[in-house]
Amino acid sequence: MSVQVYDLRCEYRRQPLGIDVRRPRISWKLSADERGELQTAYRIQVAADDGFASPIWDSGKVESDESVHVELPAFILERRKRYYFRVQAWSRAGEPSPWSETSFWETGMLESSAWTANWIAAPKGSPDAEEPEQCPMLRRGFAVDGEVTSARIYATARGLYELELNGRRVGDACFAPGWTSYGSRIQYQTYDVTELLQSGENAIGALLGNGWYKGNIAWKGQRNIYGDRRALLLELHIAYADGRTERIATDAGWKAGHSPILMSEIYHGETYDARLERPGWSSPGFDDGDWEAVETLAYGYDELVAQENDPVRSIQELAPIDSFTTPAGEVVLDFGQNMVGRVRFTVQGEAGDEVMLEHAEVLDREGNFYTENLRAAKQTVRYILKGGEKETFEPRFTFQGFRYVRLTGFGPSPNAADFVGVVLHTDMDRTGRFACSDPLVNQLQHNIEWGQKGNFLDVPTDCPQRDERCGWTGDAQMFIRTAAYLTNIGPFFTKWLRDLRADQMPDGGVPFVIPDVLDPEVHSSSAWGDAAVICPWTIYLCYGDKRILEEQHDSMKAWVEYIRAQGDDEYLWNTGFHYGDWLGLDSKPDSYVGATDRDYIATAFYAYSTSLLRKTAEVLGKEEDAAAYGALYERVVAAFRNEFFTPTGRLSVPTQTAAVLALMFELVEGEARERTIRKLESLLEESKYHLTTGFVGTPYLNHVLSRIGRNDAAYKLLFQQDYPSWLYQVTKGATTIWEHWDGIKEDGSFWSKDMNSFNHYAYGAIGDWLYRVVAGIDTDESRPGYKHVRVRPQPGEGLTWAEASLETMYGEVRSAWRKGEDGSFTLEVTIPPNATADIVVPAPEGATVRESGERLDGASGVASAQPVDGGWLVAVGSGVYRFEVSQNQ
Ligand code: BGC
Repeated sequence: MSVQVYDLRCEYRRQPLGIDVRRPRISWKLSADERGELQTAYRIQVAADDGFASPIWDSGKVESDESVHVELPAFILERRKRYYFRVQAWSRAGEPSPWSETSFWETGMLESSAWTANWIAAPKGSPDAEEPEQCPMLRRGFAVDGEVTSARIYATARGLYELELNGRRVGDACFAPGWTSYGSRIQYQTYDVTELLQSGENAIGALLGNGWYKGNIAWKGQRNIYGDRRALLLELHIAYADGRTERIATDAGWKAGHSPILMSEIYHGETYDARLERPGWSSPGFDDGDWEAVETLAYGYDELVAQENDPVRSIQELAPIDSFTTPAGEVVLDFGQNMVGRVRFTVQGEAGDEVMLEHAEVLDREGNFYTENLRAAKQTVRYILKGGEKETFEPRFTFQGFRYVRLTGFGPSPNAADFVGVVLHTDMDRTGRFACSDPLVNQLQHNIEWGQKGNFLDVPTDCPQRDERCGWTGDAQMFIRTAAYLTNIGPFFTKWLRDLRADQMPDGGVPFVIPDVLDPEVHSSSAWGDAAVICPWTIYLCYGDKRILEEQHDSMKAWVEYIRAQGDDEYLWNTGFHYGDWLGLDSKPDSYVGATDRDYIATAFYAYSTSLLRKTAEVLGKEEDAAAYGALYERVVAAFRNEFFTPTGRLSVPTQTAAVLALMFELVEGEARERTIRKLESLLEESKYHLTTGFVGTPYLNHVLSRIGRNDAAYKLLFQQDYPSWLYQVTKGATTIWEHWDGIKEDGSFWSKDMNSFNHYAYGAIGDWLYRVVAGIDTDESRPGYKHVRVRPQPGEGLTWAEASLETMYGEVRSAWRKGEDGSFTLEVTIPPNATADIVVPAPEGATVRESGERLDGASGVASAQPVDGGWLVAVGSGVYRFEVSQNQ
């Protein structure tokens, strides 16, 4: 009985370069060939050399079953240094594993005071200009004298940047330095450039773009939100074999020139004049005699932090599935998928010829190219040819949300092979897979995944196409649990939540979008601001990440205290602006806000956030807080009941969303609970099992139905194909999740032009129910991060099989069930080593349940089994289990 250690991580990441965490956390996984394997002890070594000749730190053998986020002690870390580490684990039987493979992390600058470079910018042109302007190029040459053993660039920008060294691109990050709350936090990136240097003359070049920093962001035309100068900060540190070190940094000696990028904007696209290219500009030997000296700017280093998540990268490429001429006579490409990124294309022609690509999500009912729902976002790429040979171009500082591309200047029948759709999003480990017997539900799952891809572009956005693309807190909160099934979002939300904390108001209020780019006078809507509490709690639950609770605790508490201070009743939230049940279908005509009273929603979320804050205090050992927020929670719940339920238990807000919130957050009990359940059931009957819920109610609706014993109703809702339903849009050909249940109506017309995104992940929150209830993979709050897994699939009418797998921090959890034609039922479950699980095998009373052929009655390799309501509860350790349920003996 031995174990092997694999997949070493530091701060969630594999071999990260440039992290400034003072007490990095190490995680690893175990493999084992026998069931029930657990770690009983571990040993970690950290060394400066990969041979571990003289370890800097050795934990010795530590009796512990911890293998996720094991925090290293606060030993003295040096900056810009590689630390190797390896791990050994002891099995349940006490046998040691061999040492794991060696991994490493590398520190970055560690402190902002370590920076000495100057911020540099192209000389002042028209920085306050209303119109977007040309992108500058910055460069300098330098000599390398001797054998280089290692070279790193630490760089960031105000704006966006891309680097080249000796004519080759540095790294593969897009949209560096990423979007943060720039006033308080700007990430810098670390690049290993050892291989790009050459002995003798070298040159380095940077291109700067507007990005979120100074481009047009949000729908009121705002620009220069964070500043009006694009600037670069860079240090190249070279280590020579003979022990010398050298530093090349941005300073007054750099030169600035005009790039061929005449315009580049997040929303509007890019204009590029290839005739202005300066071949060799980032290589040595280039004559920059006509370039100007840069200006150094007085910015300091206080805001600088190391890159926190993985950057946006080009993740995959799509080929167009069709190119055709619309009834209006326009030439259009179809990529077959509503995607986010940009098009790389190849073109040939005369110098000065111009081609244009415009991007759209849908065609209108006549089959014509449709861009009205983009509002002010132009999503247009223009390219002016240099002429002669074939030319290939891909824009740099912009992204588009699109399926269709209108082509101008490519002739009547362009060659589809000349166009490639480059899919861009934050690089995250894919963790989840779900499939079932219904193809439409599988397409829905596909659409949910693409909704996440398109909207996890450095921050969680509402939509990726119109003049918005902002980090809407409500949307993020609604979708986070689903996202945590699909990919590992630990680092992504760690970063975003730090921005939330940074942008939180002094009184604890939370802006509607993070990073905050809106009017500071209005903020803090219920269910939106609650992201401050719900998101860190979800990351803790899904990844066992206690540090995020430590980091966010003050922010979580400030939000609850903010609510408490509103209005004159401490226990109700009945004042202020709220988005309410946004886009609920029971709204008044011409309103975006569903019928559920806003103070009802606000107080329900107040109670929910307070309950999570209390749990957080318990996890962190803050006993006084736990008691205080436990008491506050009781008072809020009492006030909620008193205000919204009659003494005999009648719910005074008769909407689906109201009933769903009361039941989901467990705010009612006894007769009131029974009556609320009956109310929800009668509302669903009235609507012939169609939802009327909006952003607030929808994510919880099916969960509530499954919990109250109406799994049948949840499945009915899932399988509806007429409006409003998840599958309506699937039958209409959607490849992502729509903002509106009727973004495209039955007759092919559109819902509206000003709020009609076809890539809005909020309603994709049904994904959580597919994984957690249909396939039945859930966490256990008392042993989070899937240390203890709860597996309880709830099969329903309409599916003959379903299967999900989830790569947790411990390894793969899988649940797959299948109904046989003879009435039999099988369930296969995988639990990774060093985790345990409670599995509920659904089985009717009197049925026989076997595991790997043996009858379940306490025997078999399974730790314990007992009949429970609706099936058998089996407690297991790691391993693969195969249960068979049959009616006969
Ligand atoms: C966004 C949403 C957001 C909402 C606030 C919209 O414009 O697209 O998804 O949550 O505003 O209600």
